[in-house]
Amino acid sequence: MRVLILFGTNEGHTHKIARFLSDRLSGQGHEVTMADARDLPVDLSPACHDLVIVAARVHAGASPRAVLGFVRRRREALQRMPTAFISVSMAAARHRPGDAEREAQYVDQFIAKTGWMPGHIYHAAGARLYTKHNALTRWILGLVDRHRDDTSCDHEFTDWEKLAAFADEVADAANQLAQEGGGDGECA
Ligand SMILES: Cc1cc2nc3c(=O)[nH]c(=O)nc-3n(C[C@H](O)[C@H](O)[C@H](O)COP(=O)(O)O)c2cc1C
Repeated sequence: MRVLILFGTNEGHTHKIARFLSDRLSGQGHEVTMADARDLPVDLSPACHDLVIVAARVHAGASPRAVLGFVRRRREALQRMPTAFISVSMAAARHRPGDAEREAQYVDQFIAKTGWMPGHIYHAAGARLYTKHNALTRWILGLVDRHRDDTSCDHEFTDWEKLAAFADEVADAANQLAQEGGGDGECA
């Protein structure tokens, strides 16, 4: 099965998630293409794949513009084929009251902005990469996190096992459809 994993990242953790998914699905014999939303080949077409997974980080409540743009442009093709959306945020780590509502809002907003309803949705807890920031931003992020963690080093909250189970579930569903001859999109 041909799988496209499109990701939108700032600090790199969503890229790491995309690589993890790619390794997992390649290991199952699938042909995986990874694409950074900021640097997309002009001819990249969802319809040339049997499954598209979009992974996007949340910053200030929003997904990357480049991801939103790609999904808007390719919405019709995406709507007709097996897809999954992975929203990567700190809210998904559920450290603060209201995080469950926030993570749901991020995805609702993504759907409202793009008009695309993904076949599967996953909320991935991201990472606090304090060391990638200057002292001021690190201090602000520490404040947002209510000094829960040491800001002199990085912290990762992704549950890799659950993410792997999600990837398997999505791939199995798409594989079944591909074998049944599903996917009516033309590769263009
Ligand atoms: C400047 C900044 C703003 C952020 N805003 C939010 C936010 O509004 N909601 C949230 O849940 N997480 C927020 N996060 C956490 C990121 O979603 C999380 O760190 C994620 O792993 C970043 O992914 P990336 O490394 O792919 O950019 C923010 C992180 C930074 C650095």
